[in-house]
Amino acid sequence: MEQKVAIVTGATGSIGKDIAIFLSERGIKVVGTFNKKEEEAKELEALNKDIKIFHLDLSSINSIEKFVQSISESFPKIDFLVNNAGIKSDNLLENMPEEDISEVINVNLIGTIKLTKKLLPKIKESKGRIINIGSVAGEFGSGGQANYSVSKAGISAFTKTLAKELAKYGITVNNIAPGLIESEMAKTVPEKIKEKIINKIALKKLGTPRAISELVYFLVTNEGNYITGQTIRIDGGLLN
Ligand SMILES: NC(=O)c1ccc[n+]([C@@H]2O[C@H](COP(=O)([O-])OP(=O)(O)OC[C@H]3O[C@@H](n4cnc5c(N)ncnc54)[C@H](OP(=O)(O)O)[C@@H]3O)[C@@H](O)[C@H]2O)c1
Repeated sequence: MEQKVAIVTGATGSIGKDIAIFLSERGIKVVGTFNKKEEEAKELEALNKDIKIFHLDLSSINSIEKFVQSISESFPKIDFLVNNAGIKSDNLLENMPEEDISEVINVNLIGTIKLTKKLLPKIKESKGRIINIGSVAGEFGSGGQANYSVSKAGISAFTKTLAKELAKYGITVNNIAPGLIESEMAKTVPEKIKEKIINKIALKKLGTPRAISELVYFLVTNEGNYITGQTIRIDGGLLN
């Protein structure tokens, strides 16, 4: 059987790295992306011959175009797109610098939409799958994260819309909305706030990147073929 190819953006981050490793260990060729962490990108490539890493800055259309161009020869076929890259820059809205409002929405939402658009012809050819990584913040809202929550709510709406547009090509589109996951991003959450969040989680613990990877894998395999347009929360039973 021909080897499937998955793009995983933000593969140098805690969750993206695990998704890249998990998929590659299951025989899927992974095209991962990094933005600033070139060293981590090289280390990840060295782990498995089926992982190749390219530069991508979602805030720049030039970078998006360059990325799509640079993978086109080596990877003429793309089966799965995992839009995982994302940033946060938290503050109460009244203290939030203007540039942090635009940057977070620009990377997490607008950049993701632009990249997906550029890759659509290839995904249509393979009747592929698109998995977005949103957040519970996009579902519930989250104090101190107006920019981030809006970007992730946008991803949820983008998912539903694209699922409708692409169903006729046999493409499914879903959104995974994690709660707080053991990650570099979680390390930046102040301990007091983390404790408060854990108290609101029914399972009383953070999630793991592996839990996200397993759901991504389920959605790209045949088992996930009748699921589309969904936001699937994976949050240990986080109470709103
Ligand atoms: N961690 C959580 O608890 C949690 C909860 C809910 C949702 N999520 C979502 O899950 C996804 C992954 O989170 P994570 O915790 O793994 O984050 P992370 O460790 O901070 O990694 C973020 C990834 O995004 C890349 N990136 C940053 N800026 C970029 C840009 N301008 N263009 C392209 N890529 C860029 C980073 O690349 P470099 O490192 O190379 O710069 C890195 O690979 C994000 O979308 C996040 O919002 C995370």
